[in-house]
Amino acid sequence: MKKIVQKEQPIAKEQVIRLLLTLQEDAVAAIGESNEAIDELRLTWLGKESEFAKLASCMRTVKSEDKQQIGAVLNGVKKSIESALSSRHVYQTSQASSSSDWFDTTVPGDLPPQGHLHIVSQAIDEITDIFNKIGFTRVRHPEVDWDWYPFESLNMPHSHPASDEWETFYIRYPGVPGSDYKKQKIVLTPHTSNGQVREMEKGVLPIRMINIAKCYRRQIDVSHTPMFHQFEGLYIDKNVSIGHLKGVLDYFAKHCFGPDRVTRIRPFHFQFTEPSFEVDISCGICSGKGCKLCKEGWLELGGAGMVHPIVLTNGKVDTKKYNGFAFGWGVERAYMMKSNTNIDDIRLIYGNDVRFLKQF
Ligand code: PHE
Repeated sequence: MKKIVQKEQPIAKEQVIRLLLTLQEDAVAAIGESNEAIDELRLTWLGKESEFAKLASCMRTVKSEDKQQIGAVLNGVKKSIESALSSRHVYQTSQASSSSDWFDTTVPGDLPPQGHLHIVSQAIDEITDIFNKIGFTRVRHPEVDWDWYPFESLNMPHSHPASDEWETFYIRYPGVPGSDYKKQKIVLTPHTSNGQVREMEKGVLPIRMINIAKCYRRQIDVSHTPMFHQFEGLYIDKNVSIGHLKGVLDYFAKHCFGPDRVTRIRPFHFQFTEPSFEVDISCGICSGKGCKLCKEGWLELGGAGMVHPIVLTNGKVDTKKYNGFAFGWGVERAYMMKSNTNIDDIRLIYGNDVRFLKQF
């Protein structure tokens, strides 16, 4: 490109116009071919130190009658350089996106990760379905309740040692002054048996309920967590026998665990059932040989028994006409005993490790 004349010297109109047009030609050609960044090119061709800026400063020294024509050429040249720069810009951007961001619109997109129900929710659904089939309806009773329902209503006076195992987490609450003896202390329910008298209080007989809820106890080890779930069955009708209880037990074991799992009933003591039993099921991890989880080949599923007449009376059920059975088992424990789960530490269920949870 030709160098222009010295600044401040008077300059002929034709010369300025010729120089401007040459500059325009040179600039447009150079911008079109250059790989330099747009900002660099703008600086070179239109910046303060550019040929264009120098030519523009000639305006000061040209004759006043020539100013209008030179000004028009100056504007035209500037516009051409600007437009060369902006088309260069579009080209550069499209080139950048075509090399790195190009994508095939026909390829199916990445799906966002999709979760599923937690294993405990799955277990609750499954247990609910199994009992629904034999006419037990799922109900909900409080998980934080007046302590009368999980204790005294169930024939466990306050000072009775039987409640030691279950007296756990109390809520600081002043009680309802002057209100009835049932509404004095509030507890995180240690078992779902609080639902027994609550269900009877509805006054509808016969009862076939399955109450599934959270329970709280002071415990933590390989087979216990401070918060867990229980499912409580209650059947109240006329002439109910232990045979009916055993039938429901066997039905559940067969449908939940599979035909190869066996159950056993051991005599036990609960304040709220008479007679009382503890129900065990053969361990699904070691098949009865003994392992880290079960120790002796059997896992305690939970308690069961014939509802104590005092409990029926507390629920205003006429004990001359009606009797029944109840059972209460752990949801997590039941799920762990299923042959295909192989969970040997109950705490894993609440560890929130997605690698663990997504297996189920
Ligand atoms: N509530 C008892 C427990 O948590 C289980 C149970 C329920 C026993 C119903 C008998 C009848 O261990």
